[in-house]
Amino acid sequence: MRILVTGGAGYIGSHVVKALGEQGHELLVYDNLSTGHDWAVLYGKLVVGELEDSRLLNDAFQSFRPEAVLHFAASIQVEESVREPLRYYRNNVANTLNLLNAMDRHGVRNLIYSSTASVYGIPEKMPVVESMPLNPINPYGASKVMVEAVLRDIVQAKDFRYIALRYFNVAGADSRTRIGQAYSDATHLITRALKTAHGEFPKLSIFGTDYPTADGTCIRDYIHVDDLADAHIRALNYLTETGKTEIMNCGYGHGFSVKEVVTVAKKVTGIDFTVLETDRRAGDPPELIADSTKLRQLTGWQPRHDDLEFIIKTAWDWELKYKSNLAKK
Ligand code: UFG
Repeated sequence: MRILVTGGAGYIGSHVVKALGEQGHELLVYDNLSTGHDWAVLYGKLVVGELEDSRLLNDAFQSFRPEAVLHFAASIQVEESVREPLRYYRNNVANTLNLLNAMDRHGVRNLIYSSTASVYGIPEKMPVVESMPLNPINPYGASKVMVEAVLRDIVQAKDFRYIALRYFNVAGADSRTRIGQAYSDATHLITRALKTAHGEFPKLSIFGTDYPTADGTCIRDYIHVDDLADAHIRALNYLTETGKTEIMNCGYGHGFSVKEVVTVAKKVTGIDFTVLETDRRAGDPPELIADSTKLRQLTGWQPRHDDLEFIIKTAWDWELKYKSNLAKK
């Protein structure tokens, strides 16, 4: 199938491009390289451009004639979204409208949309099922809720269908260390812990130890990026085979606290890096665990890397390789 992938040079997008490429799909990656890299695009052709640039986007649709779109390009950091809401609404909402316009104009009816567990805010029950109320507590989550609402309306009006995948905490890297998370201001826990182990930061802060959890730190459902990539392949197959619009959570269904992640990171790296307990970070829910029954039942998805040690090991191997490559430049 001919598939246009926005944000395909970024962390998650590049792992999905790898999985799609291995299956023989024809790919066009559209990415502004703001956080992505040309070397991360292992398959297909790369067009460097902005989603704001309607002309370039239309040219890409016109010449490539995609049958489906996978939309990863977005700003994704919760804390930054609290500080810079406008940037989040522009990039995540306005730019997505541009993409949807181009899809409409060129008659492309299939979309896999990258959504997030942040749409739920602070859920009342755990694990989270897709039908629970959407109460985002930060602009990042709110921007994703807005686009989900737009998509629902388009389905009512047009011959259009989509699957929104709500990601929980994505981590890890390609086990052959070809690609991984590669931007310098990454704020995610596992990346931060590994960069601290590597000496890039003097210490790791644990944001809040007074949450209503067993050890007082936040609990998250960490999913290996290759398992998430597989979820995309299966969701795309489901979409094109059934033509049905769906929303599916992507996570393993169990979680780890910040302190547990730190313990495993120290074990994997063999480095006893400095950890400091600090105040809560704005916009953090205490616990987020996915109920992924829908994804499993509808698409047959089964996790292959449900092992925090493996997740952190692949991220660590990648971090070491990325840093040594940077040092050589
Ligand atoms: N944390 C620390 N210290 C750090 C970094 C993070 O204690 O240096 C804590 C956070 O406070 C949080 C947990 O580790 O409690 C996980 O934080 P991340 O920044 O790794 O991830 P988030 O849970 O904030 O958000 C991520 C994605 C979102 C997605 C969400 C879904 O960034 O896009 O997971 O669960 F929506």
